[in-house]
Amino acid sequence: MLKIGSVSLKSNLILAPLAGISDLPYRMLNRRFGAELAFIEMLNCRSLSHKSRRTKEMLATNPDDRPLGIQILGCEPRFILKALDVLRTYEFEVLDFNAACPAKKVVRRGEGAGLLKDPKKLKKLLELVVGNTKVPVTVKIRLGWDKDSVNAREVALLAEDAGVAGIFVHGRTKMQGYSGRVDYTHIAGVKKAVRIPVIASGDIMSAELAVKMRKETGCDGLAIARGGLGNPWIFKEIQSLLRGEPVPARPSKEDIMKVMLEHLIACDRYYGERIGVIRFRKFFSWYTRGFRKVRSLREKSSQAKTEEQMCRIIEESRGSY
Ligand SMILES: Cc1cc2nc3c(=O)[nH]c(=O)nc-3n(C[C@H](O)[C@H](O)[C@H](O)COP(=O)(O)O)c2cc1C
Repeated sequence: MLKIGSVSLKSNLILAPLAGISDLPYRMLNRRFGAELAFIEMLNCRSLSHKSRRTKEMLATNPDDRPLGIQILGCEPRFILKALDVLRTYEFEVLDFNAACPAKKVVRRGEGAGLLKDPKKLKKLLELVVGNTKVPVTVKIRLGWDKDSVNAREVALLAEDAGVAGIFVHGRTKMQGYSGRVDYTHIAGVKKAVRIPVIASGDIMSAELAVKMRKETGCDGLAIARGGLGNPWIFKEIQSLLRGEPVPARPSKEDIMKVMLEHLIACDRYYGERIGVIRFRKFFSWYTRGFRKVRSLREKSSQAKTEEQMCRIIEESRGSY
């Protein structure tokens, strides 16, 4: 069990926020496989404060989509306060503040991982967020800006001082982006330094790597990101291995077919057929990772416009498994 402030979670497996991916259909599917706390993709405070249509869509949820995490991105107090005001009308369990996003347009504004260059400013912003939010606040950080300025431990201590209830650590620097190996030692350093829960992120691509992350860092929770793309089974596999039980067999061809169809239909119901099929296209590629001779089917899927066309492509992929 994992406790983030007043929120008790039934397991320590968390679905990480994934921009353009962790929408309601994706969260619901992964919950069915064992994701406990699931995050909506990060929301820009400026857009939130303007109540943009796209941001409102991103906030869509349902009563079964719990416990739910919302993540905000910003660095200007007035927009952060406005965003928090808008969020008051929504129900969710955890609010995360992003100090980890490495995108150029984000760090250029001094947001996301840009804040790792100014830990004192980050602390002030966290105090502001904690002081104006009813649910527990967490922060997501990286190890530092680059390998010569690793400061995760210092940032984590300041965040704890600011009153956050948990820390997500992506074990890479901003300069590493999403490549290069995750560094377990520095995550372990953060865990040793603070008393609040530490949730580790990075390269949790299999149950074995989840257990390795746990062992090497002593972390309290695990945030699954790319390891879950086209692979919701990873949650059950991690759960079993952490409990010392045998890991379930990898999904059969039938399992994959069934989940692909379920996911496609969920996207179509939620977005309508046209957008739903477009949203599903990238998932087809992820679900069929490891399939043989699937390139032409992936090309076809990237052109599919109707549910019927996509269903046919899914059916055809059966032969490539
Ligand atoms: C496509 C994509 C979108 C992401 N979006 C977010 C996001 O909105 N907020 C966030 O904190 N992290 C985001 N991340 C980072 C992940 O949550 C995670 O920390 C990172 O990918 C490391 O984990 P992994 O190596 O297991 O993928 C994103 C990562 C990817 C690949």
